[in-house]
Amino acid sequence: MSLSKDEPVLRLQHISKQFPGVFAVNDVSLDVYPGEVHVVAGENGAGKSTLMKLLSQVEKPSSGTILLNHEPIRFHGPQHAQSLGIAMIYQEFALAPHLTIAQNMFLGQEPLRLGLIDRSTEIQRSRTLLKQVGLNIDPRRLVSGLSVAEQQLVEIAKALSLDAKVVIMDEPTATLTEQEIHELFNVIHNMTERGIAILYISHRLDEIFRIAHRVTVMRDGQVVATLPRAEIDEKKLIRLMVGREIANLYPKPSTTIGEVVLRVTGITRAHVLRNCSFELHAGEILGFAGLVGAGRTELARAIFGADRIDAGTIEVEGKKVRIKSPEAAIQAGIGYLTEDRKRDGLAMNLGIDQNITMAHLPVVAGILNLGQERRTALQARDQLRIRTPSIRRKVEVLSGGTQQKVIVARWLETQAKVLFFDEPTRGIDVGAKAEIFDLIGKLAQQGRAIILISSYLPELLNMCDRILVIREGQIAGAVEREQFSEERIIALATGAREIEAQ
Ligand SMILES: Nc1ncnc2c1ncn2[C@@H]1O[C@H](COP(=O)(O)OP(=O)(O)OP(=O)(O)O)[C@@H](O)[C@H]1O
Ligand SMILES: [Mg+2]
Repeated sequence: MSLSKDEPVLRLQHISKQFPGVFAVNDVSLDVYPGEVHVVAGENGAGKSTLMKLLSQVEKPSSGTILLNHEPIRFHGPQHAQSLGIAMIYQEFALAPHLTIAQNMFLGQEPLRLGLIDRSTEIQRSRTLLKQVGLNIDPRRLVSGLSVAEQQLVEIAKALSLDAKVVIMDEPTATLTEQEIHELFNVIHNMTERGIAILYISHRLDEIFRIAHRVTVMRDGQVVATLPRAEIDEKKLIRLMVGREIANLYPKPSTTIGEVVLRVTGITRAHVLRNCSFELHAGEILGFAGLVGAGRTELARAIFGADRIDAGTIEVEGKKVRIKSPEAAIQAGIGYLTEDRKRDGLAMNLGIDQNITMAHLPVVAGILNLGQERRTALQARDQLRIRTPSIRRKVEVLSGGTQQKVIVARWLETQAKVLFFDEPTRGIDVGAKAEIFDLIGKLAQQGRAIILISSYLPELLNMCDRILVIREGQIAGAVEREQFSEERIIALATGAREIEAQ
């Protein structure tokens, strides 16, 4: 039975989810219509991901009813939700890497012929579905060889094969390039044309305004408002999300630029970095711009001792330092806030307090000072508005953005003279973004030297004193604040010739 566009495909009625000590989702009622892109927005920890997990049956609601095509659905786990036509597009680890694309797409629903899996039909069908999402790759390829963007599209193709009616995407663009985002939006558009409803979570306001038909804002587990796109602007959305006005998204203080703190000369790493040299001054915020894969993170990792270098020298405050490991870098006064919090950022099964004080344990006469650890953690919690019932809470149950705040808090506690921030606002809500930039500004005012890596140019243009543009493992150019323009940076990043203003 197909539904008319005026009837909700999905109705949530008084849905709640309680975890020990937290009402993650609190009495949420919401209608979702066929063919709409329904954005769910809200601060870190507002309950967005949890709500989506209730829909995709990864978690069981504590109470409430979900109706699909007016029929109440029962809880039987994610497979069941999928078979009903509710598909969740995961960002990572959802596909089996050692299987082919075709095998992944038909896992558990393989076409049979004389009782055997019919591989050729599987491959043929996969090819058709991949085309629908704009992927022209061989379905016999292994998933392990695909980029994040390609994996995501394979997941979407899989949802199409299941004849999904509702497709959930939780921060799908966090690790995509601008071009890939563009392609994803085309695919989303085609899906909505076919009457599929999309539930879409994002912290990027520009994105929300590009694709939303309606926006639901959550705060503290509850729905604050559901509004059509035409009835909201950026200011209103921010106010609904954080419950207050944010005067300045990029609070850059005026600082005095001091002596050279870090001097990097001729850093080279085979096939990755070539002869990179630059200086960084006390109180300076230096941006690393460049396309994804240009070598920004690689350069940071090389300086931090996370990757071996083949040539080059590093000086901190005029003294040559040999940095062979991250421990040595920390000793030398260099801190690095990684872009990948799961892989090398956090100890997932330790508490917030332990994670915060990890880089710089308060040790008095060789004994760990637990009182001090607690005080430090509490202070950081207030400063960054880390919402948690307890400072001892395990990091793994925190929302994605809250985990990021914990990492920021950790580096604030060190005495590092040089601090790398690699995509520090990824997955972070607008309110917290402004707070993190405020902190970065304050650190610069204290005379620390900052390197800010970001794929979102407005962040660099607003916050930095100078921007280095990195292309193909080399420094393609440096731009001073007075000369900042988006065109100039993009021209350097892509190697295109700059188009001079007439
Ligand atoms: N398995 C769990 N056990 C305990 N608490 C949890 C669990 N999962 C989520 N929570 C808590 O529920 C609340 C809502 O988290 P959720 O991940 O839904 O937030 P979110 O809106 O997706 O945030 P973000 O924007 O940071 O991703 C948070 O306080 C979180 O710590
Ligand atoms: Mg989330």
